Amino acid sequence: MIPESISHGAVKTEEEHRRDICAVGRWLHERGYAAATDGNVSLRLGADRILITPTSISKGMMTPEDLVIIDSEGCRVSGLRKASSELAMHLLIYRLRPDVNAVCHAHPPTATGYAAAGIPLDKPILCELVIGLGTVPVARYGTPGTSELTCTMAPLVQGHDSILMANHGVVTYGPDLLDAFLRMETTEHFARVALVTELLGKQVLLSGGDVEKLHAARARYAAGAQSAASAAPATSAASESGTPERVTLTRRELETLIDEAVRRDRSVR
Ligand code: 13P
Repeated sequence: MIPESISHGAVKTEEEHRRDICAVGRWLHERGYAAATDGNVSLRLGADRILITPTSISKGMMTPEDLVIIDSEGCRVSGLRKASSELAMHLLIYRLRPDVNAVCHAHPPTATGYAAAGIPLDKPILCELVIGLGTVPVARYGTPGTSELTCTMAPLVQGHDSILMANHGVVTYGPDLLDAFLRMETTEHFARVALVTELLGKQVLLSGGDVEKLHAARARYAAGAQSAASAAPATSAASESGTPERVTLTRRELETLIDEAVRRDRSVR
């Protein structure tokens, strides 16, 4: 059964990952972020294995068996269907961002409107957005599914977690699938709020000093959220018994934490 909710950071079986991707596909479709057969979702299963949605299927109506496993060269390893036509974009993001374990691509209408207008979401209009997303740039147009598209995106992937793709849509990514999906939701929310301020004819921007403080808070918040999420499934019951809390992390979880902290630290300097 497709789950109603999915969790952060838990160690999951391949079957659970498949169900989670189907849940995210349904959420994208239900929210109107992925009409018809639009959108694609993937997650990193291991060093050389990506689980990705198939091409040309409604992402709201997938079953776990529809998903395809590809390697880091984009070759199909298992699955009966053909992998998403956008697999090169997913592979680019995994290659450039070792901290990223999941990618969502969709066409949410308001954010896609900004992408079609070539307008980035980069004005500091809400404190939560500065903390949650930073700025969202526009990547120049490139034909979907070609190296033209990956070339325009490559310079932006390192410094952002959400990118508007000109005349196309949005791509978001994060340390797990829930983060990648929530960043899609936040990007669309950001676009709606920005549009309302433009309709009202007035935007009061946060000051440079306020933004700096929020960037510092963003780095602390991200590191804290990440360690809490990674630690949750492996935390022992020691804290309940009064002994100091011991947290166990796998090597991969530790590396992800360190990468994320270093990256956040660089982005606020
Ligand atoms: P796929 O069905 O091939 O993943 O393509 C959907 C899409 O949104 C292309 O931009």
